[in-house]
Amino acid sequence: MCIFCILGIAILLWLLHIYMTGGVCKIKKDLSGKVVFITGANTGIGKDTALQLGNMNATIVIACRDTIKGQLVLDQLNKITQAYLIKLDLSCLNSVRQCVEDFKKLNIPQIDILINNAGVMAPQTYKTTKQSYELQFGTNHLGHFLLTELLIPYLKAAEQSRVVNVSSLAHRHSNLNFKDINLAQYANSKLWSIKYSPLAYGNSKLCNILHAMEISKRHGIKACSLHPGAVRTELMREVVQNPILNVVLKLSTVFYFLLSKSSLQGAQTTLQCALEDYDKLVDGGYYSDCKLKQPQNTNKQLAEKLWEFSAEKLRFYLEK
Ligand SMILES: NC(=O)c1ccc[n+]([C@@H]2O[C@H](COP(=O)([O-])OP(=O)(O)OC[C@H]3O[C@@H](n4cnc5c(N)ncnc54)[C@H](OP(=O)(O)O)[C@@H]3O)[C@@H](O)[C@H]2O)c1
Repeated sequence: MCIFCILGIAILLWLLHIYMTGGVCKIKKDLSGKVVFITGANTGIGKDTALQLGNMNATIVIACRDTIKGQLVLDQLNKITQAYLIKLDLSCLNSVRQCVEDFKKLNIPQIDILINNAGVMAPQTYKTTKQSYELQFGTNHLGHFLLTELLIPYLKAAEQSRVVNVSSLAHRHSNLNFKDINLAQYANSKLWSIKYSPLAYGNSKLCNILHAMEISKRHGIKACSLHPGAVRTELMREVVQNPILNVVLKLSTVFYFLLSKSSLQGAQTTLQCALEDYDKLVDGGYYSDCKLKQPQNTNKQLAEKLWEFSAEKLRFYLEK
């Protein structure tokens, strides 16, 4: 009897695992002549996305902060396709500008698919970017907003180009307050790591969705956003520095494995958005498990407001 119970539980857990890791992109294309620009491709979801698209013969530009790890990915990519590595630190707006200058030097005329993938999550203390924005908002949203704006001429140079923003289900835990976008009032709170840091991440991921909703209205270029699922990557690197959270994570390792995706599985929805036929891709749409889903906390007015707020904050870097 007991053996049947254990077997039953094991089968249920395995089925749950299959359900949680679901969503496979079935589209295969020859991307010869197409150019993909992807941020944060030195590891995790970005690395697997770059390798998969490289396997389909696209020219791949990886923009990475960690150029040592980036070089290792570039070496892998160069075995299968034409690829380039550019340095990019999204938490420094000058680095974003420099990255675009370095891209210009490659003499690549167009970008067909821009994938804003890089992201930082849950720093355990209040941290800011070089220009003093809260780290997650400044990196995940503002850095990518500036990058996208500066790359618009290259996206316009390609026929049927698109922007893919890697967001998260965590966007549901958000509350954008333009009067305190940096959550600075909570910077010294003892609850920062468990309460406000997750909120800042959620806000930044909501911004990724709102940004994608507004791009085509502003530039006539299709854009979408997505949740990759719960994926075993280095995204938790800051969280594990907290001794209590580290113990909790270690204790839940088996469940974490069962309920999460590998980075290749996590790349599937990004691939779906990158490869979906142009006419089928829903402009401003939010995808999860390779399907269109309804995001929360979003509306057109908020997308418009975030755009104007971001453009104003970045005016100096956009006009420079
Ligand atoms: N893993 C999940 O469960 C999950 C769930 C929902 C959404 N996401 C989203 O998926 C995307 C990819 O994350 P991942 O899970 O693959 O995590 P990851 O393994 O930690 O990869 C994140 C990438 O972002 C880069 N990055 C971080 N800060 C940067 C900066 N200032 N400038 C340039 N690059 C920077 C990292 O570069 P370094 O190596 O130099 O730090 C790394 O390449 C993120 O946008 C994340 O929010 C992930």
